[in-house]
Amino acid sequence: MENQVLYINACVREGSRTDRLARRVLEQKVLAKAGGFTELVLAKENLLPLDGATLALREELISKGQFDHDMFRFARQFAEAEVIVIGAPFWDLSFPALLKTYLEQIYIVGLVTRFDETGRQMGLCKAKKLYYVTTAGGPYTRTYSYDYVRELVGAFGIAETELVYAENLDIVGNDPDAILDAVVLPD
Ligand SMILES: Cc1cc2nc3c(=O)[nH]c(=O)nc-3n(C[C@H](O)[C@H](O)[C@H](O)COP(=O)(O)O)c2cc1C
Repeated sequence: MENQVLYINACVREGSRTDRLARRVLEQKVLAKAGGFTELVLAKENLLPLDGATLALREELISKGQFDHDMFRFARQFAEAEVIVIGAPFWDLSFPALLKTYLEQIYIVGLVTRFDETGRQMGLCKAKKLYYVTTAGGPYTRTYSYDYVRELVGAFGIAETELVYAENLDIVGNDPDAILDAVVLPD
């Protein structure tokens, strides 16, 4: 990877407000300490849910330790990053299926995590910190989005996560720009 900051852009809409907030996090919190970032725009990747044939191939490659295969490129990139920012709008109490498909692709035992001899999961990712950035049309609930991602990446060895969000953007009478501008970024 060109640099060690990875922005996983799971935003879909033109002029996405989540993307705007995520870029603020990148500029103000992350890039002050790093040179630049690599952006992965999920909507531009041909991400497909695992089917029988792909899963069989993936299991065969994992059993042979062939982690240089192209199907593992996202998992390799994720494992190498030192800071990760995920930008994903709040959809259906969660996030776009695009992000779920990506997570499905990167959960590779042997690359992002491994099991020790006692069956305990040991994370293999380098990242020290992951920011999860989201915006919601109504009130935001974190259970099926941030909390889920936090637990998942905990198994990858990423202990420190931070949630940045703006909510109630689509409530009639609210000013989404003002709400976004008022978001206080974590220290
Ligand atoms: C497919 C879809 C599902 C959504 N589901 C929810 C939802 O469950 N709860 C909510 O508060 N807002 C929901 N919204 C509204 C978005 O969370 C809100 O408009 C958000 O700011 C969109 O972010 P964006 O500007 O980055 O696309 C949904 C919007 C879309 C398009």
